Amino acid sequence: MIKTLLENNRAWSEGKTRVDPDFFRRLERQQTPEYFWIGCSDSRVPANEIIGLDPGEVFVHRNVANLAPPQDANYLSVLQFAVEVLKVRHILVVGHYGCGGVAAAIDGRRRGLVDHWLHPIRETYADHVHELEGLPDGRERLDRLCELNVLRQVRNVASDVFVQDAWARGQALSVHGWVYSLGDGLVTDQNITVSSQAEFTERFPSRP
Ligand code: CO
Repeated sequence: MIKTLLENNRAWSEGKTRVDPDFFRRLERQQTPEYFWIGCSDSRVPANEIIGLDPGEVFVHRNVANLAPPQDANYLSVLQFAVEVLKVRHILVVGHYGCGGVAAAIDGRRRGLVDHWLHPIRETYADHVHELEGLPDGRERLDRLCELNVLRQVRNVASDVFVQDAWARGQALSVHGWVYSLGDGLVTDQNITVSSQAEFTERFPSRP
């Protein structure tokens, strides 16, 4: 099995070099991605592949249920590097329907450490409990919670000081919310893009 992976790697590297002989030498010198992807660890949601980008084109941070918790040093370190050093133009917060992490947050079962990690999703559920419990079935409720989680994480990212300072400096930076469908491979833009402090305040008026 592992041998196959290494063979795949050889073939992939040769294929890339055949099309573009300078490909790896160029990447070795520097990375200049315009996109920063914050997505779920789920193996069915591979960042580069979904949006058709090569190595070097998208900076990636993935965790269970695509969270952007404002106290998580891992996420914050990656965010700061993306915004201040790489100067990405777009941050993509990408959730997906049928997310096991989102489902686990609200099924009432105890799993251990991950229950703490998923706590922000239970808060999002509580914030929207009337809308969610008004939906006809569990599947729709879960899908809507996946969307609301993305909305909440966009707010977290856009309200972070790294992003707010970038806007104050006049740096071009947009934060987008997407939800990916495992069933057909398509992304739905949630139309919650924020590209400036003014847009942020307008979209999230209660949380300046
Ligand atoms: Co997931």
